[in-house]
Amino acid sequence: MIMDFKNKNILVTGASRGIGKRIAEAFALQGANVLLNASRESDHFKAALAEFDKAGYSCAGYACDVANTAAVKEMFAFAAEKFGSVDILVNNAGITRDMLLMKMSEDEWDMVLDVNLKGVFNCSKACIRPMMKKRWGRIINISSIIGIIGNAGQVNYAASKAGMIGFSKSVAKEVGKRGITCNVVAPGFIESDMTAALSDELKVKYLESIPVNRFGRASDVAKAVLFLAGDDASFITGQVLNVDGGMVM
Ligand code: NAI
Repeated sequence: MIMDFKNKNILVTGASRGIGKRIAEAFALQGANVLLNASRESDHFKAALAEFDKAGYSCAGYACDVANTAAVKEMFAFAAEKFGSVDILVNNAGITRDMLLMKMSEDEWDMVLDVNLKGVFNCSKACIRPMMKKRWGRIINISSIIGIIGNAGQVNYAASKAGMIGFSKSVAKEVGKRGITCNVVAPGFIESDMTAALSDELKVKYLESIPVNRFGRASDVAKAVLFLAGDDASFITGQVLNVDGGMVM
């Protein structure tokens, strides 16, 4: 399998920790130029950048809220100046604000849709023109199996993650002729800060429903993303790849 990402410019949103950080690292290890994004200059973000610098990766960081259209434009201008236009965009930034529908506030709905879905629109729009000019590009959107099967208490999250799937299929149809693919990776239960917050009871319940009998790792997701980003996946577009140990099939 050819996995040469040298001279490729990658932007990973929400890369200060968890899955996004692991995806960014996987590309950096393959010699790519990687721009890490996070919502703000948090300690996590500074630590991740210091770690990448120490490892000698070709990388830079840019903190901005992906839901902020103007800020995202500036981030892509920064990326272009630093490395050149973005060849591979990984929309990974995501948040949850869980609540049953009858108690969910408008703010909880808006925040999740803004970050998880509008953020994907903002970042994808900002890189699509240069990708079309280059006649090569990859957009990989990190959704969730919750966007496929739904979950009580997560109407906002599930709607945003399902929205990413419709978005990706439409982009795939719009730009397929230009050598650009757009796919979705839908992780199941992945060990991370987000899932560490779940109760032990819920974790046991989830494990029972995973055929391979383990929780996923961020590296499991990163490997799927790298595959879809490579030249060997040029005939795969508009697809949803579940990385969930068989939880949803
Ligand atoms: P996490 O909570 O550990 O990290 C989230 C990242 O997103 C952080 O870097 C944070 O700075 C960034 N972020 C949050 N709001 C942002 C904003 N407005 N603008 C820019 N960046 C922002 O999350 P985790 O678990 O690593 O998840 C990453 C992605 O994978 C998310 O989209 C999540 O929905 C998805 N996912 C995670 C699963 C899991 O089991 N952890 C399962 C299925 C999907």
